Amino acid sequence: MFDAVSLPETDQILRLMAIYAGDDRPLKVDLGVGVYRSPDGRTPVMAAVKQAEQRIWQNQNTKSYVGLAGDPAFHGAMRSLVLGDAVPVGRVAAAAAPGGTGAIRQILEMTKRLTPDAAVWLSDPTWPNHSSIARYLGLTIRTYRYYDAETGGLDRAGMMADLSAAAPGDLVLLHACCHNPTGVELSLQDWQAIGATLETTGAIPFIDMAYQGFGNSLEEDAAGTRLLAGMLPETLIAASCSKNFGLYRDRVGIAIAVTSGETAQGAAQAMLAYFNRQNYSFPPDHGARVVETILGDPILTDIWRTELRGMREGMNATRAAFAEALRVETGSDRFGFLGSHRGMFSLIGATPEQVDRLREEHAIYVVRDGRMNVAGLTPDAIPHVARAMAEVLI
Ligand code: LMR
Repeated sequence: MFDAVSLPETDQILRLMAIYAGDDRPLKVDLGVGVYRSPDGRTPVMAAVKQAEQRIWQNQNTKSYVGLAGDPAFHGAMRSLVLGDAVPVGRVAAAAAPGGTGAIRQILEMTKRLTPDAAVWLSDPTWPNHSSIARYLGLTIRTYRYYDAETGGLDRAGMMADLSAAAPGDLVLLHACCHNPTGVELSLQDWQAIGATLETTGAIPFIDMAYQGFGNSLEEDAAGTRLLAGMLPETLIAASCSKNFGLYRDRVGIAIAVTSGETAQGAAQAMLAYFNRQNYSFPPDHGARVVETILGDPILTDIWRTELRGMREGMNATRAAFAEALRVETGSDRFGFLGSHRGMFSLIGATPEQVDRLREEHAIYVVRDGRMNVAGLTPDAIPHVARAMAEVLI
């Protein structure tokens, strides 16, 4: 079976993680994989998570199966977090999934089964696993312009022109906030314009919400998603709790289908449960239970929101400090865009060769497309990284 196998291409982010792990230079800086780090370089277990886990450990008296779509209390908590009161509950179907990626996979597989001719529109660029999963499932991939490398901002006109060519039933994959890898946000006006275009074309928004709370606030980061869900008949959402609850390895995500009404909701709920059964049967429960415990208790919610706010403000302060250090090092505002981006990522505009030089000569790890994880930048590393970037990129 394996003798003549042609090996799949390894994901560039995961490949970089492996090279970093094998690097024994003491001053190495990991700006690769999208994992939050506190100023002392740790990825902490959040305080509310610890307390919720303690409660679960003390009170849980069975580990028996829950349900194919996961616990309805988890659905309810996530529905409120993601959608607020943008749509009536009766329109929303949901299923727990192993992480945001699990939810992406379930939604794309459902699309391939139900509407095999639908294309999936991906932003250029996007997280490499979006195209990898879509390709794996045999879906047609189309791209829409997004990033303007000249300005480090949005190619608004290009994006709108490309999206107007989507066909009815196509999926348009949008990043709810904290675009991965560019860091370029959509304004509420942009969401409004995208919604109007989707209304005209009949294409369906598919929103990857992996960083709610990492951009501006829990509410602002969900505003575009809520707008589209309220104005269009169907919206698909893959939400992740990896980053905002720090539950990376517990794999907590949810696939949400906002449908046109109660009959469609019933069908979507049945389909989501069916795809769970075919792929892994029951979804993991522990992390989902942690999330529902936090969101179901006002005191834990408050502890969680406060810590999340601190993480977000820390990242935004790092962005400002790094942009300033680069301004001093380069004597220009060339990297000023870093300060206005949101979330963990920004593209620094490095060629693959420059990325290699940063790694080989300065032990600075950036993804090959030039994506850096701002949250990996501890305050004491900022001068070194700014100096190296100025030397290699200018
Ligand atoms: C990232 O983009 O670095 C994260 O989402 C981790 C991953 O799985 O690639």
